[in-house]
Order: sequence, then structure tokens, then C-alpha cells
Amino acid sequence: MKNISFKLGALFLAVVLFIHVVLFIFLYTGLLHNRIEDEKKALLARGNSHRDVLEHHFDDMTLKHVALMESEAETKVAVTDANNRLLVYSKPFTEHMKQMIKKKPAVSGKGAVIQGSWRDHPYLVTASPIYDNEKRKGYVYMFAPTASIRSLVDKLTSQFLLAAFLTFVLSIILVFFLSKFITMPIINLKQITKEISRGKHHPVPAIKRADELGELAASIQSLSNDLERLKKERNDFLASIAHELRTPLTYLKGYADIATRPIDEKERLHYLHIIKEEAEKLALLVKELFELAKMDKNQFAITKERVRMDELLTEIYEKIEPVFNEEEKSLGLIIEPAWASVDEKRFSQVIYNLLDNALKHTNKGGRVEIRLTKEKGTIKLAISDNGEGIPKEDVPYIFERLYRVDKSRSRLRGGSGLGLSIAKEIIERHGGTIRVQSQSGKGTTFIITIRGEAIE
Ligand SMILES: Nc1ncnc2c1ncn2[C@@H]1O[C@H](COP(=O)(O)OP(=O)(O)O)[C@@H](O)[C@H]1O
Ligand SMILES: [Mg+2]
Repeated sequence: MKNISFKLGALFLAVVLFIHVVLFIFLYTGLLHNRIEDEKKALLARGNSHRDVLEHHFDDMTLKHVALMESEAETKVAVTDANNRLLVYSKPFTEHMKQMIKKKPAVSGKGAVIQGSWRDHPYLVTASPIYDNEKRKGYVYMFAPTASIRSLVDKLTSQFLLAAFLTFVLSIILVFFLSKFITMPIINLKQITKEISRGKHHPVPAIKRADELGELAASIQSLSNDLERLKKERNDFLASIAHELRTPLTYLKGYADIATRPIDEKERLHYLHIIKEEAEKLALLVKELFELAKMDKNQFAITKERVRMDELLTEIYEKIEPVFNEEEKSLGLIIEPAWASVDEKRFSQVIYNLLDNALKHTNKGGRVEIRLTKEKGTIKLAISDNGEGIPKEDVPYIFERLYRVDKSRSRLRGGSGLGLSIAKEIIERHGGTIRVQSQSGKGTTFIITIRGEAIE
């Protein structure tokens, strides 16, 4: 029995029973003590008043009168002479009473209780000595039955037991309710999380409650959904990778087959050249995948340094501009002096990637621009082209891994669809953002925003 409701129920039982016991002890000792003391005092007072009468008139007549008086009351009386011989008593007079007055009591003038224990004796007994001028003439014994006290105690005890029993029953009911409303849902949730962790997608039964358990159920549900989505993404990604690898391999094998046939040397060279290109693409794809894997495992270190962004961009511009010219496209550079804290190598990789995309997706005579502008505390870097643009429906997915707008055509142009997802990852690791604005047929602009400072 390790469940919560049982523990709570047991705690409840323990606390309530403890309170019961404390109350009972107080009641029992306090009430009972007072009651018995009162009884003893009253008994002694009654005995003393008989004694007072007998001190004045110690004769048969008065003795009989005293006995008569007590025979009507619940208390009993017995009077002895100085040698403890019984002179008179009220009826009924039991053997036990006789036993009580056998010995001379050791009492002083005021009288005393000689039997005060209510528990084991049927009577409380007091003795009041009768004097005649300093000489002891005899004793007045008073008896009060203890049965009523014992019945009071019995009543108290049985009531206490009843209360304890009710508490016990209440605790069982409490445990039952706690278990229905707390433990069972928790056990259910536990079972469900177990199944989720074993890889089963499990709809979490909606616990429609506005308390912590309801919240827990809701968050387990969203956890399970996230997990499911991740699993699906991973599977899709693996399937895409398999596909990406298979296609170039098929080409490689095909061209190699042709190249090994007896064909003329010029043709063979052509095919070998294609094989080399395909192999390079494959190598690039594997390299990019490896980079992404490192990013996912957080093993991708970004070492930031303060870099003059205008100088970095000029450097890139000078390197890549001849490629644009070769393809009869123009590249423009519009910059302002500015600092930014970036990983130079990674950041250049992003710019090259974006420029490469722009180059691939513009026609002859097209124009691409690199533009660096400063805003308050940030710098904005835009790479725009007036090329084919991206269809509206593809824009939201452009940064996803392996996503390409035109699968067949871009394959020929050598894209893996990983470039932008790597770029996004790198920019975000820099604490920046990258977004795209594009219109089909008009052109595309990628805008990177990172923290930086202007140089006035
Ligand atoms: N400047 C651009 N103009 C038009 N389409 C673009 C541009 N840049 C990227 N794209 C589209 O986004 C897709 C993903 O780009 P990217 O992740 O770099 O992959 P890749 O270049 O390997 O195809 C490209 O296949 C292309 O369809
Ligand atoms: Mg690319």
C-alpha cells in the first residue's frame, strides 16, 4: 500500500485519533477527578453531620433515627462504638461493608475517607469519630456506591470507542474518494507516460479539471504530440536523405557503366567529368548533413569575434564577383561601416550560400545586390535578386531541411535543399534572425538581422 490516497488517509486517521485520545484523557481525568472528589466531600460532610448529632445524643433513639434516615438515601451508614462493635446500620448492609469496618480506622477528629478507590471497590467509605470530651465513643461510617461512577466511565469509554470507530470508517471513505479523484488519475497518467516512452502515441484521456492534475494531463498530451511530430519529422527526414543519396548514386552507377564500355575517348572523358561532379555533390551533401547533425547535438561551436562587417562583405564580394560576371549577371555592394560580433567563417558560409542561391535562381542579365544598413543596435543585411522568385505556397517551407521548390530542376543545378536550413541555424546561433521576401517572377530578398553597432 504505497499509494498517495492511502498515505493521506492514514495520516488523517492518525491525526484525528490523536486528537480524540488527547481529548479523552483530559475529559476522563478532569471530569472524573472532580466528580469523585465532590462525592467524597459530600459523603464525609454527611457522616460528620450525623456524628455531630450523635455527639450530643448518643442514645438508641438517635442511633435508630440516623439509620432510618440513611435507609431512604442511596448512601448507607453504620455506627460502631469505640471498640468497633456495630451498634446500628441502615439496610441493606452487605458482607463487604462489614469487612470495611472491621479494623479501627486511623482517623483524626474531622474524619476522613478510608476507602477512596472507586475502581475496585463497590463503595467509597468515610469514617467520622464521635467524641465525648476528648474521649472516643465510636465511629460513624458512611458508604456511597461507586457503581454510578463506573457506569459514567463505561459510558465515556464506549463513546470514545464509537467516535474512534466513526473516524476509522470516515478515513476509509476518505481513502476511497482520494483514490478515485487523485490516485487513479495519477496512476492512469503514469501508465500513459510509460506507453508514450515506449513509443506508442497515446491520446491522453482528457481530465477536465481546473486543478494541477488537469494541467498535468494537458501537458502530457502536448508532450506526446510533440514527440509524435518529432518522430514523424525524423522519419520523413531519413526517407528524404535516403532518396537524396540514392539518386546521385544511380547516376554515378549509370555513367560509370557507360564509361567502362568501349566508347571513344572524348565521350568517356565527358562521362568521367559528370561522375566527378556528381561525386562532389554527394560529398557536399554528406558534409552538410554532418554539419546539421552536429548542430542538433549542440556540438557546433560558434566563436564570435568583433568583425568589421563592411570589410568582410567587401572581401566576399571581391571573391565572388568574377563568378557572376562569368554568367553574365551583375553583383552590387552597398555598405556602411559597422561592427558586429560574429563567427567569421560561419557567417561567410551563410553569405556565400545566399549568393549562390541568388546566382542559381536568376537568369542571364540578372542583378543581385548585397546591402548592409544600420539600425538602432542592430545591423540589417539584405541579399536581393531579380530572379525567378519563390512561389507563395513554398515560402513558409523554404528554411526546412531538404526542401526545394522545384525538385527535379534544382537537382540538376546541384542543390540539396539543406543550404537555407543550415544558414538559419547559424544565424540563430548568433542570436539573429533570417527571413525571406519573395514574389514569383520578380525576385527574392533574404534579410538577416543581428546585433551590431554602427561606426559614425
Ligand atoms: N534566391 C532564390 N530565388 C529563388 N528560389 C530560391 C532562392 N534561394 C533559395 N530558393 C529556393 O529555396 C530552396 C532551398 O534552398 P537551399 O536550402 O539553399 O537549397 P539548395 O540551394 O541546395 O536547393 C531552393 O531549392 C530554391 O528552390
Ligand atoms: Mg543553396
